[in-house]
Amino acid sequence: MVSMSEKSNRSGQPNLRREVEILAATHEIYAPSPDVVSNANLPNYLELQQQALSDIITFWDDQAQTFIDWFEPYQQVLDNSNPPFYKWFAGGKVNIAYNALDRHARTWRKNKLALLWEGEPGDVRLYSYFGLWREVNKFANVLRSMGVKKGDTVTLYMGRVPELIIAMLATVKIGAIHSVVYAGFSEQALADRIEDAGSRVVVTCDGAWLRGKTVNLKDIADAAIHRSPVVQQMLVVKRTGQQVRMAPGRDFWWHELMNLPIASPYCEPEVMDAEDPLFILYTSGSTGKPKGVVHTCGGYQVFIATTLKYVFDLKEDDRWWCAADPAWITGHSYITYAPLILGATSFMYEGAADYPYPDRWWSLVEKYHVSVLYTTPTAIRRLMRFGEAWPNRHDLSTLRLLGTVGEPINTAAWRWYYQVIGGERCPIIDTWWQTETGGFMITPTPVVPLKPGSATIPFVGIEADVVREDGASCEPYEDGDLVIKRPWPGLARTIWNNPEQYLSEYWSQFQAQGWYFSGDSARRDDDGYFWIIGRTDDMIKVSGYPLGTAEIENSLLSHKFVAEAAVIGLPDAVKGQVIHAFCVLKTGLQGDNRLVDELKEHVRHEVGPIAVPAAVTFVTSLPRTRSGKIMHRLLKAQVLGQPVGDTSTLADQ
Ligand code: WT7
Repeated sequence: MVSMSEKSNRSGQPNLRREVEILAATHEIYAPSPDVVSNANLPNYLELQQQALSDIITFWDDQAQTFIDWFEPYQQVLDNSNPPFYKWFAGGKVNIAYNALDRHARTWRKNKLALLWEGEPGDVRLYSYFGLWREVNKFANVLRSMGVKKGDTVTLYMGRVPELIIAMLATVKIGAIHSVVYAGFSEQALADRIEDAGSRVVVTCDGAWLRGKTVNLKDIADAAIHRSPVVQQMLVVKRTGQQVRMAPGRDFWWHELMNLPIASPYCEPEVMDAEDPLFILYTSGSTGKPKGVVHTCGGYQVFIATTLKYVFDLKEDDRWWCAADPAWITGHSYITYAPLILGATSFMYEGAADYPYPDRWWSLVEKYHVSVLYTTPTAIRRLMRFGEAWPNRHDLSTLRLLGTVGEPINTAAWRWYYQVIGGERCPIIDTWWQTETGGFMITPTPVVPLKPGSATIPFVGIEADVVREDGASCEPYEDGDLVIKRPWPGLARTIWNNPEQYLSEYWSQFQAQGWYFSGDSARRDDDGYFWIIGRTDDMIKVSGYPLGTAEIENSLLSHKFVAEAAVIGLPDAVKGQVIHAFCVLKTGLQGDNRLVDELKEHVRHEVGPIAVPAAVTFVTSLPRTRSGKIMHRLLKAQVLGQPVGDTSTLADQ
């Protein structure tokens, strides 16, 4: 079926789209079961969503009072006197570690599990709210004794271990700013980030477990520090027990420090202004140098607590598993901070999803009675490749909700997640958001009817739209830029050391209107549901027609032999660009010329002749960022034999 659309895109050219598939999915509606609705914290989400826009100030004021304890009240909910440098809860005094731990450790919750953790080798650690609070206090005092104070930055380069969560909370407890750097990053990437943030103290581990092997983090940290002389102290968690070199006077073992009198068990939380910086997070940005996105102390915590509570309908007896890495915004917001603020129980697993067997995740769901699982389409597709016998071996009946984030989820993966993992019982919460948005922006809650592949509707108080270049709203099914028209509390306030870049990246495109530019293209259907297409910078133009990479990738993914797919545009003398496709086949399959022809035919059939790849290459894996996005830039550079540039955001797969 050729689906060349008659409609125009924002640049006035005819656009090619898979409207047929989206239209089909538009009518594949999964209504929530009465059971789910009657249980929901926010049964009237749809109404509230309409209502809140008439008065977002009252809405956010209510949430700030409901979820957060303030040392001193704020004077104003939103100060918009200097857009886009918005201030939320100005004048309010607060500390996120206090809201995450101190206040719970004084109630009955002191005995509740805050964190359940399993290491890749199978070791288990459990922390009650009291226990976690105590560890955080002790490490906060260690940091203070090292001279770390309010406003200083601390870089954390650690595996997925409880000490990372403890170090994050300890840093913010004393008013310092953390910059968590993903343990899969190279020494240069780490050095660049330490340098940009200007951290005198780095916390790391001897090593990290990865698929039964260990990665020597301390060696990498040593090499990075060699390049950034700014570092004076390195604190090292013993995790793998491997040999590491400790520099006398500079390097200290975590466990030794925590046994010294400096690690006293109570630390007074620093009183922070709502607009003080809370943390820096370098984004997985697909172009150029990484940007240090800055979130602040007040609005961020209001936003993440509100969104987690309502979107995942979190309950006191839930066991919440956000399977992201804590080094990613998903982990910051929804492993470390929001679940603790809400007094919930979080589960975290250290290792690879398919180690030692492809059912490791499913065995964890069964073993710990996980009730909500939140992950990415990539992870789902990877596990789907092993077949349903692996999950079917396990009792997954404790699951009541499933979530996804990071990229549009293709229909095949959605259905597998829904049927095989969720037993057709669990709504799939497809959350669209970004490092810069702090928390969920476009998302259903359990009461919203679902359409596979759509993140559905904006969260309460979020005004999102799909617009043309001139700012006019697009017609249904017309592609345009996804923009956010009003500020929200979780909005990143700046780029570290670079407010100009903050303005140019997010606020220059619709400067006249004062809207936030997401960099994503999207369309809406007749019901107002949002369908994210992808980054506008992932667009390919063939003979002048803009094609979304995701669109072509999804058509390849709908072929029964294809497990993963990526397409890039390569220069072509006649057409401007032609498409080169890379496919990972399902386990056990071999690619040959016949399959190449079949796939081309498949794309021709599904999308249209203009989208047929000029070449198809079979590969065993695709380069992805740690948040699961395909690094098109890297594939392209490899094919063209160009230098690959900054690969620091490449995930270690
Ligand atoms: C980009 C943000 C916030 C955690 C995710 C990674 C894409 C994110 C979805 C979704 C379709 C999605 C967008 C966005 N994206 N969630 N549910 N459906 N696309 O954060 O690395 O800052 O990436 O991820 O393109 O702009 P990030």
